[in-house]
Amino acid sequence: MLSFNVGLYLLIASLVVFHLLPSPVACDDKEKDLLHDINTYRKILNLPVLDENKKASCLAEEIAEDLGDVHCEVFRDYYPTPGNNSKIPNFQKNIDKCNININTTTEGVIMPLCLPKLNSDDLFSNYTKFNRFTKYLNNSKYKSAGVGSEDDWMVFIVATNTTSGDFSSASSSLLPHFLMPAFFFATLLLFFK
Ligand SMILES: *[C@@H]1O[C@H](CO)[C@@H](O)[C@H](O)[C@H]1NC(C)=O
Ligand SMILES: *[C@@H]1O[C@H](CO)[C@@H](O)[C@H](O)[C@H]1NC(C)=O
Ligand SMILES: *[C@@H]1O[C@H](CO)[C@@H](O)[C@H](O)[C@H]1NC(C)=O
Ligand SMILES: *[C@@H]1O[C@H](CO)[C@@H](O)[C@H](O)[C@H]1NC(C)=O
Ligand SMILES: *[C@@H]1O[C@H](CO)[C@@H](O)[C@H](O)[C@H]1NC(C)=O
Repeated sequence: MLSFNVGLYLLIASLVVFHLLPSPVACDDKEKDLLHDINTYRKILNLPVLDENKKASCLAEEIAEDLGDVHCEVFRDYYPTPGNNSKIPNFQKNIDKCNININTTTEGVIMPLCLPKLNSDDLFSNYTKFNRFTKYLNNSKYKSAGVGSEDDWMVFIVATNTTSGDFSSASSSLLPHFLMPAFFFATLLLFFK
């Protein structure tokens, strides 16, 4: 028989695990619009459109949240390089939060941009007319994208469809998502026993 304390501990542990899971991202029109605009641009260039990559979006959202407190100047000249995310704040923490295997991010490219009020025309032209970003956005190698924003920050991530750049799950010890409800209710049962 499990004691009351063990049941309580398990309940708290399961709540913590739940809390660590990324919450569903609220629909953000600016993010949707940017992805749509960039896909229109890619269609014109005869490139495959970028599907939304949920894990990359989770990561973009977390990075944007952390950048929300950072002055625009800090990243104004940020030049992204695949596999070199050493300047992105809390990169490892956010990778873990979104349950991504860091080895699946090396070919991806993370492009943070700070623009007052995230004006959509400025956003689109900054992404597609600045050389440092354009060469990734007009590249057929990238198949999916993640988008996140906070305050004046937009974060656009492009991902490949290969294991070194698809921003997929870590083969971690966390329970698979479909087992979560079962784990939760089992814990509740123990608690009330
Ligand atoms: C990675 O980023 C660091 C810090 O910005 C920089 O010093 C280094 O040269 C970069 N490495 C590559 C391979 O781009
Ligand atoms: C990533 O790759 C390195 C080197 O191959 C390996 O040591 C590490 O365990 C891998 N990390 C994950 C989370 O799979
Ligand atoms: C980028 O956005 C700024 C607004 O902050 C605008 O003044 C500038 O012209 C834009 N640059 C490009 C290349 O679109
Ligand atoms: C993509 O953009 C870069 C930088 O502007 C440019 O040098 C390159 O020619 C472009 N490639 C395509 C396929 O449009
Ligand atoms: C990745 O995309 C290329 C080109 O679109 C395709 O040939 C390949 O089969 C895709 N690979 C995977 C693993 O989906």
